[in-house]
Amino acid sequence: MAKKIQITETVLRDAHQSLIATRMPIEDMLPILPKLDEVGFYSLECWGGATFDACIRFLNEDPWERLRIIRKNCPKTKLQMLFRGQNMLGYRHYADDVLEYFVQRSVANGIDVIRIFDALNDIKNLKTAISAAKVAKKENPNVEAQVAMSYTTGPVFTTQYYADYAKRIEDAGADSICIKDMAALLTPYYTAELVEAIEKAVKIPVQIHTHYTSGLASMCLLKGIEAGADRIDTAMSPLANGTSHAPTESMVAALQGTEYDTGIDLVKLSEIREYFMGLREKYIKSGLLDPKMLATDAKALIYQVPGGMLSNLLKQLKDAGKSDKLTEVLEEVPRVRKDAGYPPLVTPTSQIVGTQAVFNVILGERYKMCNGQFKDLVAGKYGTTPVPIDPKFRKKIIGDQKPVECRPADLIEPELEKLRAEIPQWIEQEEDVLTYAQFPEVAPKFFKARRDKKIGINPDADIKNKVHPV
Ligand code: CO
Repeated sequence: MAKKIQITETVLRDAHQSLIATRMPIEDMLPILPKLDEVGFYSLECWGGATFDACIRFLNEDPWERLRIIRKNCPKTKLQMLFRGQNMLGYRHYADDVLEYFVQRSVANGIDVIRIFDALNDIKNLKTAISAAKVAKKENPNVEAQVAMSYTTGPVFTTQYYADYAKRIEDAGADSICIKDMAALLTPYYTAELVEAIEKAVKIPVQIHTHYTSGLASMCLLKGIEAGADRIDTAMSPLANGTSHAPTESMVAALQGTEYDTGIDLVKLSEIREYFMGLREKYIKSGLLDPKMLATDAKALIYQVPGGMLSNLLKQLKDAGKSDKLTEVLEEVPRVRKDAGYPPLVTPTSQIVGTQAVFNVILGERYKMCNGQFKDLVAGKYGTTPVPIDPKFRKKIIGDQKPVECRPADLIEPELEKLRAEIPQWIEQEEDVLTYAQFPEVAPKFFKARRDKKIGINPDADIKNKVHPV
């Protein structure tokens, strides 16, 4: 029986998040959106993840307006976002009222598929997001609550662990499941074993998300498809490979004429490739895209840390004048991870564990200093860790403070109205309160720049000498 494999195209989100620090502005997307909409992709991943932060922090772009523009230019294809469960797109846990409103506004502005994950694979942290998506589905039948399992390795992370977690995800009401291999740790034959076990455990569609870092992604996807996966994530070739994904054209070509044929036309893809090739050249010329990012590097398999985390560690060490300590830090990361209950390394746990490993190495004494986030992780404020934390270690880090055992968001009072009351002067649209909720420091600066632009104040103007550059 023929089974059409569906493709999620990531060029508008994860591909540029992985290669150029999420700096693709809407102007670079706009000319090609109508063509992307004609291909017949299952979905276009274009929002969430780091795009929101990058929009307001670096690009001076309203992320909500970006979403509306993409929706208007891609009326046929499902639009997809990446969503960090109870952390939404920020770095802390939010009250349920804020999360529910965020999901509602995301759908109202054009999102169909919400890919929800939790850094600790704690199902408690996914509940509200799944039910909020279900509520939105009543308005828009295209809405899909997809839950992604953060894939990692370690003593508890057996095939059985993922099969059991998949079952719990299905029972929680998810419409589909994604294996989210953010650190490019999957290998082809293991992918087959994993997909087969998950397919046995659940009836909902299974999607694979992996990165090309160690050069294995397309093989993993192929073995996963043969084992029963329904959907794969790929990226248009000019922004594929390296720390990004397997090239869309190659995967479509590999499956063409087989029982897994995607039905996608390679000629259409080649026109789109031409456009993105121009962007690739532009980004290389401007220095935004470092060709090193496009090279294959199996280091990820050795150190088991995501690419973004590796460059963060290196930057932290450089800033401290200790670049020579990278190997020691990379050896310390698994030890910190073990102490902290084996969290998968993905935002925000990758930053928390990485920073602690840096402290432990450069201060010459383990846990001499801990930042608040590490204490919160150990105190259970991010949820239940995959392995229970040793009570002795916990006491050393948080003293006699009582660890959180319930769902962390149950301890947060409703906060939407309070947040709204903090920024009446900046609200131009309903969604602004959600932008502010997630980035309370950056959002006001963005709101001010947006207003200045509207009333014609040039930020480069020399106010004192009344000179406006032309
Ligand atoms: Co990714």
